Amino acid sequence: MSIDHYQDATVFVAGGSSGINLGIAKAFAERGARVAIASRSAERVQTAVRELQSLGTQALGFSADVRDADAIAAALAQAHDAFGPIDVLVSGAAGNFVAPALGMSARGFRTVVDIDLNGTFHVLRAAHEYLRKPGASVLNISASQAFNPTPYQAHVCAAKAGVDMLTRVLAMEWGVDGIRVNSIVPGPIADTEGVRRLVPTPEARAKMEALIPLRRFGSTDEVADLALFLSSPRARFITGTVIPVDGGISLTGSRDLSAALTW
Ligand code: NAP
Ligand code: COA
Repeated sequence: MSIDHYQDATVFVAGGSSGINLGIAKAFAERGARVAIASRSAERVQTAVRELQSLGTQALGFSADVRDADAIAAALAQAHDAFGPIDVLVSGAAGNFVAPALGMSARGFRTVVDIDLNGTFHVLRAAHEYLRKPGASVLNISASQAFNPTPYQAHVCAAKAGVDMLTRVLAMEWGVDGIRVNSIVPGPIADTEGVRRLVPTPEARAKMEALIPLRRFGSTDEVADLALFLSSPRARFITGTVIPVDGGISLTGSRDLSAALTW
């Protein structure tokens, strides 16, 4: 295995049927890995699996909700039976909507925490027995809301802060098994659902672009490059870190998402 060669590696991506997570799945597939993905919609999973298979690799998909610990455990067990020990585990399923805390019901807040935080615990907890030991790389997909308090994102801020703490704690608990655990923090990534929800208008996107030190949105390939690096032997002594790939925007503090409230 190297940063550009993942032949004989098995990759499992929770929330892998679209956007950034599918971009990561494709990057590993293009480099020879066997890839399994899971998300709620059977139709989206099927479409993504076909896309992965068209890259010339073996791919499998499961319809499973990360909020359902048993369903996600069953998907991981089947992926392991088919493809062998998991070398790279990505936990990226997430939900988001823009709303003030007072505009969120208890269920609305809980829904996002259940998907992002409890879902990540379910994925990692169930995957542990199937991870390659030593050698596995676990990647949690976080967000800058984890450390930049962001108005209208109380649920995501709380959930992703929890995700990054899971990264650190499990890096400590699982280091003895030779498992590394890291968080990737994407910045605003062009043509993704996250950006469509958070910065819905061309005007809001232009304002955000001006805030990014590198003055542009990122691409899914740029996030995938970090995932490839972190899972390669080049990163063999890196664990428990939270690494932005964001053109520097997380340095600029919280974002103004008010445009999404009038959308
Ligand atoms: P996206 O396209 O909406 O991807 C979300 C994925 O998660 C989909 O495959 C979705 O498929 C799946 N999913 C959602 N709820 C699920 C559940 N309960 N159980 C299982 N799967 C579930 O979003 P994205 O914008 O690419 O974001 C991907 C990740 O990057 C997220 O973790 C997000 O927080 C993070 N991020 C994104 C940005 C950005 O600019 N887009 C910035 C920072 C961080 P189904 O609908 O089929 O379930
Ligand atoms: N403002 C306030 N509350 C909202 C809301 C909004 N814009 N959108 C959803 N909610 C609330 C709902 O009202 C509901 O609470 P209630 O029953 O008290 O009314 C609660 O959230 C759950 O909504 P529901 O639609 O039943 O949840 P779901 O499990 O079907 O979907 C979401 C989860 C809401 C996160 C949905 O947007 C989703 O599936 N997102 C996945 C894709 C995504 O967000 N991608 C971007 C990742 S960065």
